[in-house]
Parts: sequence; C-alpha cells; structure tokens
Amino acid sequence: MVLPYYSAMRPLICCKDLHRTYESTPPLQVLKGVDFTVGRGEIAVILGPSGTGKSTLMHLLAGLDTPDHGEIWWESLPVHTYRPQKLARLRSKHVGLVFQQHYLLEDLTVLENATLPGRLTGELEIQRGEVLLEAVGLSQRSSAYPKTLSGGEKQRLAVARALYHRPPVVLADEPTGSLDRGNARVVYQLLVDLCREDDTSVVMVTHDEALVDEVDRKFNLIDGVLVPLD
Ligand SMILES: Nc1ncnc2c1ncn2[C@@H]1O[C@H](COP(=O)(O)OP(=O)(O)OP(=O)(O)O)[C@@H](O)[C@H]1O
Ligand SMILES: [Mg+2]
Repeated sequence: MVLPYYSAMRPLICCKDLHRTYESTPPLQVLKGVDFTVGRGEIAVILGPSGTGKSTLMHLLAGLDTPDHGEIWWESLPVHTYRPQKLARLRSKHVGLVFQQHYLLEDLTVLENATLPGRLTGELEIQRGEVLLEAVGLSQRSSAYPKTLSGGEKQRLAVARALYHRPPVVLADEPTGSLDRGNARVVYQLLVDLCREDDTSVVMVTHDEALVDEVDRKFNLIDGVLVPLD
C-alpha cells in the first residue's frame, strides 16, 4: 500500500542509472548512469559543452526516446516501461516541452497553437488559451499566424502551449538558444515567473550560464553523468 505521505513526497520526475548509447562505429556512449530527481516547484538547470548528451537526456525525460538501461518515472508512472502510443497520450499532462525550435504549426493561428494540447486530448478550453496568451503578452496576436511572429514571440507562444495542461514539470531544451540576448532574457524570465506562480518545476538546458542566476540547482553533464554545481 502506498502511504499518502509517501506519494506527496514522491519526485515529479526521477531517473535512475540512465544509459544511452547510439549505434555507430564505434558505438557512441552518451549517457553512462544519470541519476536525477526534480521535486515540486524546483528549477534545475543542466549546463555542459556541446555534444555531451543534454538533449539526449531531455528526450529521455520527456519519454521521446527509450534508455538502453535505467528507469524514468513521472511521479508513480514507470515511463521506461510504456510504449510510444501510451506516452503520447500521457505526455502533455505530465511534462510541458519547450525546445530551441518552437515547432509551432504554421497553418494554425496563435490561439489554435496555444490550445493545441487541449485539441489533441479532447479537452479544448478556449478561455485557457486566452489566459495563457495574456500571460505571455500575445493577446493582441491571437488570430495571427506563426510566420508573422518574431522569434521571441514564437518562443513565448511555445511556452504558453507547454503550460496548457498545467503540467507539473516543464522540460526546456535551450528555450532561448535561437534568440538575441534581450529576447532570451524576456523568454527566460517569463518561463521562470509563470512556473514559480503555479509551483511548476522546470528542468532547463542552456549554454548561457549568465542567464540562469535564480535557479535552485545547477548541474554539468560531463562524460555521461550529471555533476551537481554549487
Ligand atoms: N540519433 C542519434 N544518432 C547518433 N548519434 C546521435 C544521435 N543523437 C545525438 N547523437 C550524438 O550524441 C551526442 C550527444 O548529442 P546531444 O544532442 O544529446 O548533445 P547536446 O549536449 O544536446 O549538444 P548541444 O549542446 O550541441 O545541443 C552528440 O555527439 C551527437 O552527435
Ligand atoms: Mg542539445
């Protein structure tokens, strides 16, 4: 029996001894035993040189790729045991995703993109989309199409879409990587402020250590493992 106090303390995301090797000659061993947990409301940042496996780790945490060895849990859900179809159904309620590329749908309006997770799960709430667009400063652009938005506006829309289902965790892989310094600061601050407001946890990958001053925990991904930074 799971005691209530135990489930309340359970991390929102937990991974144990994650290994991921890409098939090549020779095989490329990218993750060599990553252990990581994220508690409610925590903001964790993963730093590290290019090519060390940060995106690989984020894809695994998002259930978009499968580890060769190890476990991934979204609270009590054993993600590493689920098939892709099951994960696709569950994902947007457990993790909001923001990538360096915004992956907006060009044929949908700003409001339709913001509410896309609701359309996909059959829980469309236009008002939720409107509230989110207000929060990211895009209310005036709700009927526009993504191609008419600036880079910073597109990323702000991607943040709104990630938050649609109020996921307990946002996984952000270089969410400001394609932006100039001013826009990067705006998008970063917006993401952190919106998540802090709702006690949403964030796991963010970035190259820009200067940007991430007010986070709870920082790690370096070096030689296949996560090393905590003080
Ligand atoms: N599908 C794949 N098949 C083979 N090799 C891959 C694959 N995806 C990534 N790699 C390799 O694995 C290593 C880690 O890639 P990954 O994208 O996780 O790095 P990263 O830390 O996110 O880098 P960056 O900071 O440049 O985004 C790289 O050497 C990359 O070339
Ligand atoms: Mg990457």
